[in-house]
Amino acid sequence: MPLDIIVGAQWGDEGKGRMVDLFAAQAAIVARWGGGDNAGHTVTVGETVFKLHLIPSGIIHPHTVGVMGNGMVINPETLLAEMAKLETLGVAVPPERLRISLNAHLITPAHRALDAAQEAQRGGGKIGTTLRGIGPAYVDKAARRGLRVGDLLDEAELAEKIRAHVAAANQQLTQLYAAEPLDLEAVVTQFQEHARRLRPYIADTSVFLHEALADGQRVLGEGAQGTLLDLDHGTYPYVTSSHPIAPGALLGLGLGFSAVGEVVGVTKVFQTRVGEGGFPTEQDGTVAERLRGTGENPWDEFGTTTGRPRRVGWLDLPLLRYAARVNGLTKLALTKLDILSGLDGMKICLAYESGGRTYRELPLGLRGLEDYTPVYQELSGWAEDVRGVRAWADLPAAARDYIHLIEEQSGVPVGWVSVGPEREQLVARG
Ligand code: IMP
Repeated sequence: MPLDIIVGAQWGDEGKGRMVDLFAAQAAIVARWGGGDNAGHTVTVGETVFKLHLIPSGIIHPHTVGVMGNGMVINPETLLAEMAKLETLGVAVPPERLRISLNAHLITPAHRALDAAQEAQRGGGKIGTTLRGIGPAYVDKAARRGLRVGDLLDEAELAEKIRAHVAAANQQLTQLYAAEPLDLEAVVTQFQEHARRLRPYIADTSVFLHEALADGQRVLGEGAQGTLLDLDHGTYPYVTSSHPIAPGALLGLGLGFSAVGEVVGVTKVFQTRVGEGGFPTEQDGTVAERLRGTGENPWDEFGTTTGRPRRVGWLDLPLLRYAARVNGLTKLALTKLDILSGLDGMKICLAYESGGRTYRELPLGLRGLEDYTPVYQELSGWAEDVRGVRAWADLPAAARDYIHLIEEQSGVPVGWVSVGPEREQLVARG
């Protein structure tokens, strides 16, 4: 049985939780491979809305085991809070249900303080991070001085490592950023307590996953963030510090190429972005209000992690073609088709124009996306409410044409379309 991978094909927030929920029903293990509590995965089951940041959202299926892979950066405090929150919603997370990689890195209060101080110093040039300490934790990893989950296993050594880490961070905070230092011993005590509670969950997850796959079990790789936030292949420097693209799953879980089955790219039928950076098809005014929603509903375009209103715009096909290429997508899942119903005319971006030249492929490079003007195709849209549609043939003809255009332009077949936030509001390709 293979490793199926679900990735975001845009700038994150594509509604991956929907597809994870569908695939998790058939999977024995659901594994996250990168990022940390910067992610926000929402799954609605009946009256209950699950908002998860760290634990793979597949955990809400009681038959699954969750894995947090070596590519992740984990804040033990938010992890424990998330476990407690899940428990109140009826999902217990004992060690039999969650394995945390020895080699995942830890996020500490010092990483959060550095994230805030660095963003403040960037001023107008800020990245717009989630302030969860993600970047500074990956910096420590790359600099080979990071704290790993495995360090929680030895109490005496842990105290020493935390002291050295916080002392070094305090030096940066006070000398480079004129920020307040952290109370070193308070962090040590905090982490000793976290360690005591998390120890039973720590494992060699690469071996665990290999054995499961060899045993014929189905494993689901649950992507966080999105392709365009990838450190190498995203819209640098407005990216996160990990690898949300599909190849990141192998690196971040300790698996080889032969494991891979389907690679499903999830994309909204329009475009959104949180944080700074170029966004050629961005809209404002009434179109933006319509696409974003008011914020009253859990599915409106406001950040799950930060609550920030998301930037919104028309679907950008050069970006989607790019995502298909760097992920090796085998299928597309489209989300939020219902939001486009009743729009008085729509647009879709087929290419970019700059300096008299037309670009069909994403010209990522030294110039930012700000320098490109979208070449749009205008569409009339459809009036029908699609929220009750469950069969492909019942979608309005104009909606099916829109989907065909996306398939033709991206080169990837569409397998599913979501028409609302509920589990059953999903139309599978017959
Ligand atoms: P960081 O990951 O907190 O360092 O933030 C870097 C950039 O990635 C910022 O533009 C964030 O808004 C964006 N980002 C990080 N995680 C997510 C996510 O889960 N969804 C959408 N954007 C994200």
